[in-house]
Amino acid sequence: MSKLIRNVFIAGISSLLCHICVADTIKIGVAGPFSGPYASFGDQLWRGATQAAADINEKGGINGNKIELINADDACEPKQAVAVANRLVNKDNVAAVIGHFCSSSTIPASNVYADAQIVMITPASTNPALTERGFNTIFRTCGRDDQQGVIAAQFISDSLKAKNIAIIHDKDTYGKGLADATKKTLEKLGAKIVLYEGLTRGEKDFNALVSRIKQLNADAVYFGGLHPEAGPLLRQLREQGYQGPFISGDGIASEDFVTSAGGANIVKNVYMTFGSDPRNIPDAQKVVKELESKHIEPEGYTLYSYAALQSIADAMRETHSQDGKKMADWLHQHKVPTVMGEREWDEKGDLKNAPYIIYKWDTDGKYTPVK
Ligand code: ALA
Repeated sequence: MSKLIRNVFIAGISSLLCHICVADTIKIGVAGPFSGPYASFGDQLWRGATQAAADINEKGGINGNKIELINADDACEPKQAVAVANRLVNKDNVAAVIGHFCSSSTIPASNVYADAQIVMITPASTNPALTERGFNTIFRTCGRDDQQGVIAAQFISDSLKAKNIAIIHDKDTYGKGLADATKKTLEKLGAKIVLYEGLTRGEKDFNALVSRIKQLNADAVYFGGLHPEAGPLLRQLREQGYQGPFISGDGIASEDFVTSAGGANIVKNVYMTFGSDPRNIPDAQKVVKELESKHIEPEGYTLYSYAALQSIADAMRETHSQDGKKMADWLHQHKVPTVMGEREWDEKGDLKNAPYIIYKWDTDGKYTPVK
């Protein structure tokens, strides 16, 4: 073989190989609590995103590029959330982020993504402030607590006919914000708030608080917060003989609520507000079956996370770009078909339609819609 032919041959092979190797992966961050007491929620986000990435990659990826997910554990700690957001942006060079989970983490972390003009879609952070700051790359696939609190209050007042309500919250951005929204509507509806009190995250003994609730003859207890505090609070209420209704929000939408309360017999009859359950809609059935075949229950925010990655992938595919501003503009202007049905955002990054409904926990430790 002449030297020239050999060089042309080598160049051809190198070019072919390089063509294969330049099909770079698209890095997408998944940020949430993967350690600590709220880790079951991080698992929901990770599982939904992982299944979506596998399904998208199986069909060839995004314009020929495969998705690679990068895990970022914020433990629901605001400082850690900002640190991992900076790592995702500056070190991992992610093209977009799914997350975070706790509003108190998502809000400060979103400043980092907004500054870098990176699309962030939270599947779960419901505090209204997240999308009230004029950031064009920040979105959510869930609703907002100024909607969720209204639905809770109407149910407590109109359906449960409760008049004297104890409202407890965990002093955190989400829990207190949701408790405040619920309180505001309850007061408008004429209910009396007999107790409004914050507890401390991480504590497990709420017996003194429970005694006060009992003394005040509350006929409903509302809790704004997450399952690690909701569970023991509920258990101690039942142990001290309070048999009235206990109502909370999306922060208890995890089967770990059953564990933290001490069993399905404790959580039975607990009411919960949450977005419409995508497990029940036709668009989600294929994914639900896929997850169930892996023994993963697509509870809580699992499918909200799947939908977030579908939305990011569509924005990249349609804009032929990983440019955050272009993707964000596209998301603001288009409807996206997802496992949760068609999703459409307003100029703030909130969903145009995100109804809340009431669920009830049962003796099997599951939650189903109240008819
Ligand atoms: N909805 C909860 C929050 O915003 C998880 O923190």
